[in-house]
Parts: sequence; structure tokens; C-alpha cells
Amino acid sequence: MRAVVVYVSRRTAMAKLHLSAFDVFYAAVYGDRWPKLRAALCEPVRHVALVNPFCASPAAVLEDLGAKPFALPECTTHTYELSDVAAKWPQPQADAESGLLNMYLLDAASLVPAILLQAEAGHRVYDMCSAPGGKCLAIAFMLFANLLKQPSANSLRVPPSASASDASGRPQVAHSLAEDAADDLKRADQPSLPIASDASKVSTPADAADSDDETDDDEELTPEALLARTLIVANDASQARRVRLQHVLRDYLPETCRDRVQTSCQDASLPKWSSAHRVSYDRILVDAPCSSDRHVLHDPVEFEQWQPGRSKNMAQRQYALLGNAIKAAKSKARIVYSTCSLSPLENDDVIDKYLRKKVPAVKVVRIRFSIGESTRHGWHVLPDTCGWGPIYCAVLEKL
Ligand SMILES: C[S@@+](CC[C@H](N)C(=O)[O-])C[C@H]1O[C@@H](n2cnc3c(N)ncnc32)[C@H](O)[C@@H]1O
Repeated sequence: MRAVVVYVSRRTAMAKLHLSAFDVFYAAVYGDRWPKLRAALCEPVRHVALVNPFCASPAAVLEDLGAKPFALPECTTHTYELSDVAAKWPQPQADAESGLLNMYLLDAASLVPAILLQAEAGHRVYDMCSAPGGKCLAIAFMLFANLLKQPSANSLRVPPSASASDASGRPQVAHSLAEDAADDLKRADQPSLPIASDASKVSTPADAADSDDETDDDEELTPEALLARTLIVANDASQARRVRLQHVLRDYLPETCRDRVQTSCQDASLPKWSSAHRVSYDRILVDAPCSSDRHVLHDPVEFEQWQPGRSKNMAQRQYALLGNAIKAAKSKARIVYSTCSLSPLENDDVIDKYLRKKVPAVKVVRIRFSIGESTRHGWHVLPDTCGWGPIYCAVLEKL
């Protein structure tokens, strides 16, 4: 009886919609929830302003715009929202003192994977699909703002995994940085941008070995030494998008941080990527390319052309990226997998496939967040409940 009621109400809901392949597919996934979720996805995307902590009194500028602090308890960097949800943010402004742009606008759900990554000072972080760089910037703001505020006299403890060595006692990261630098320098087509994050600034294997060999897990380091051990590698397979990413990093980060953020342009789904980056990182974000369903709903041509096969093809690429990320993670490292897809094929099913098919090299870390809802393996932020998203995240820990 209940099945008949659900069927009839789904049919009624579907009759009110334009019956496209897209709607048929997602009505089957979300059931009676789909019309409300669809309507929320059709609304213009809302943004919060991620305040640049490296600008002088940035929050005052935002309060002048009538913005109010955005309540996301998990976020450790200042974020603002406009009091009037329909209002538009002005363009970011250059700070008079630092010359850096004062705010970065993004969907609040995009902060969730960056926060869940829990990157700490001393970590080697790999942002696998980084451009245009919103999540990378959020990670860098959270990671570097506190570190640069530490008084020099104080020492800070190195996180245990940050100084791990391989069997030969050689710091694992020295190997991967050298590989990254060598790979990048081999690419004759890459422009050498005048920013400190270029691969040419990466320390040589000898430099890395010299500095890392002198430390152990219990060692206390000055903030300067800890900063020198912290690295974010922001990678993107598209050269054009990498250039955008470099511009974002240059416009928002002071030079001290930019020295610790390297960009690269590699296809991270390939086996050769995996061989070059094996067991190298403490934190890996796989913000995978996906079927971008909200964008599809806003683009009539893409909407008409949409087919369920699109999600299946994406899932294969996502699975390859996730598999490589797991291989590149150190023991106990955290891997955050995220997409902006609505499709379970690109979300929980990718995690499932990995857990089912391989020797289990990872375990799923159960997560909760102040916005969104739990799924089989992760967390989904959907706009019908909170106005933000879609963003799906799953957190894995390397065994
Ligand atoms: C969802 S976007 C990333 C958004 C970004 N993390 C941010 O927060 O601004 C996915 C990115 O993955 C990149 N990409 C696609 N395939 C890739 C691959 N095989 N390896 C590395 N990057 C890839 C795309 O060029 C695209 O910029």
C-alpha cells in the first residue's frame, strides 16, 4: 500500500517537471524530495566571503558592507555572509597595506572538504585537483594564519606523521618533491610565472635531506622551522586552470606562505603519477572533477545533452584519482574525497568500489558537520536543507 502511495506521489511530482533524462535519473535517486531539491538548485548560487587573514583589519571592511559573521562552528578562519541573501557581493578589494585581495567568495559548502582535511603545521598536503583554488586558499588561510602569528620565541611540536621516514631513513617527502620538481621542469610548455610557488623554488633533494635528517618526531621546532617543513602542493591537470590557480595564490597569500605553496600540472589519474608520489603526503584532498549537476541545471544546452552515462564515465576517472591518492598517502594520513555531484555513482559508490575491490588500505572516518546530512560513507550538503552546496565529502584514513 505504502509503495503505491509513494509511486503515485512521485508520478504527480514528475508530472509537474520537465521530464528530461536528468529529472528521471534524479527523481529515482531522491524520490519525493527531488522537486524541492531541484528548485533549490535552480536558485542563484550563494556565496560567503572568506576573509583574507593576511590583510590589515579585513573584517572591518566587510562589516562596512553590511556583512555579518557566518556561523560555521567548524571553520577556524573568518567567514562572512551578507545579511540580505539576495544581495550581491562587491568585487574583492586590494588591501592598502599588504596589496593582497581582502576576501575570496565561495559557496559555504566548499569549506567543508577544506575543514575536514585537518591540515596542520608541518604537514605535506597535496591538493590533487586544485584549480581555480578556493579550497586550496581556505586550507592555506587556516594552516598559515595561526602559524605566522606564533611568537618566534615559542617552539611548536612537529605532528608525528610530518617527519616520517622510509625504510632507508630518508624523509619520504624529499623523494616526492624531487620528482615533482623534475616532472615540472621537464614540461617545456609551462610558463614560468613570477610567483614564488613555481616548481623551480622547491628545495633540492639534498636540501630536504639536510634539514629533515636533523629532526625526529618529538622535536620542538620554532614557528619558522615548522613553516619551512609545511608544504601545500596545488596540482591541476589543466595548464590554463593552473595559471588561474597561480594568480589566485599570488593575489591572496603573502610571500612567506607562497614559498610553501607549490603548483604543478600533472594528470593525477595516471599510473606514472602514482609511481612518482608513492607514500609522500600527510593530507590529500581529491576534489574530483564531476558531473557538476547544479551547473547543468543552469545551462540549457548541457541540460538537454545530459545522459546518465556521464556520471558513470566520471565515476571511472574519480576512482582512478582516489586510488592514486590512497597510494600517495603516508600511513595514518587523511584523504578527503569530494565532488559537487548529486549522483551516488560519483559519491558513495566510488568509495564503495575502492573498499570492495582492493586490499583495504584505508578505513572510512565517520564525520558530522553543522550543515548537511550523513550518507553511507560520507556527508552531503544539499541546498534544499541549508541553501548551500551540493558538496559530497568522504574522509578516509590510510592504514
Ligand atoms: C571540481 S574542480 C576543482 C575545484 C578546486 N578544488 C577549487 O576548490 O577551486 C576539478 C579540477 O580537476 C581538474 N582535473 C580533472 N582531471 C584531473 C586529473 N586527472 N588530474 C588532476 N586534475 C584534474 C580540472 O582541471 C578541474 O580544475
